[in-house]
Amino acid sequence: MTGEHYFTAQPGSAARERDVEFRIGARDYVLRAATGVFSADRLDPGTAVLLRKADLPGPDAAGPFLDLGCGYGPITCVLATTAPRAVVWAVDVNARARELAAGNTDRLGVAGRVRVADPDGVPADVRFAEIWSNPPIHVGKAELHGMLGRWLPRLAPGGVAWLVVGKNLGGDSLHRWLADQGWQVTRRASQKGFRVLRVNA
Ligand SMILES: C[S@@+](CC[C@H](N)C(=O)[O-])C[C@H]1O[C@@H](n2cnc3c(N)ncnc32)[C@H](O)[C@@H]1O
Repeated sequence: MTGEHYFTAQPGSAARERDVEFRIGARDYVLRAATGVFSADRLDPGTAVLLRKADLPGPDAAGPFLDLGCGYGPITCVLATTAPRAVVWAVDVNARARELAAGNTDRLGVAGRVRVADPDGVPADVRFAEIWSNPPIHVGKAELHGMLGRWLPRLAPGGVAWLVVGKNLGGDSLHRWLADQGWQVTRRASQKGFRVLRVNA
């Protein structure tokens, strides 16, 4: 990506598509990704740790869930398949990411329960049973804090957010900041340099 960030709203470079394959639980996924979106060559190692260490929703979970910063949709696709009754909101500022996420959920046959949207496209009254995010760290601390400050208050009572952040990218300072904001935060796992945080509403 020449001079272009994965959180660009409209990637200008031509999209070169590729398949990303990974296994979560007993299921194999093959998703379409493309240049101009985050980690288009492989499942991001932080996202992999999140999906393997956090508590995935069970078959009876009703949702709705939010995948905050969905990228091409790996978290959305896993949530929508492990919780086959739940609605999943897949939200991203990057239009190419949203298109890829929509295509991936379509190919998986779960698109009927997935709402792909930009951040302003989520109706104000929707509250989430769970928020999942591998948040964008490179946007800078102020924007990251603004984003979490916007969405965490939209957890339903008793709701849970699962976040993954690299230790070297400020995982522990984010933990402290969240606690300072009054959230109850626990470190669920620390693996391969990533912190998985559980935030309770
Ligand atoms: C670290 S990537 C994770 C992508 C995907 N969930 C994955 O695991 O591959 C973070 C994503 O957040 C998106 N993003 C950046 N700023 C955002 C914002 N304010 N609201 C929603 N998404 C945002 C980026 O475009 C990017 O796709």
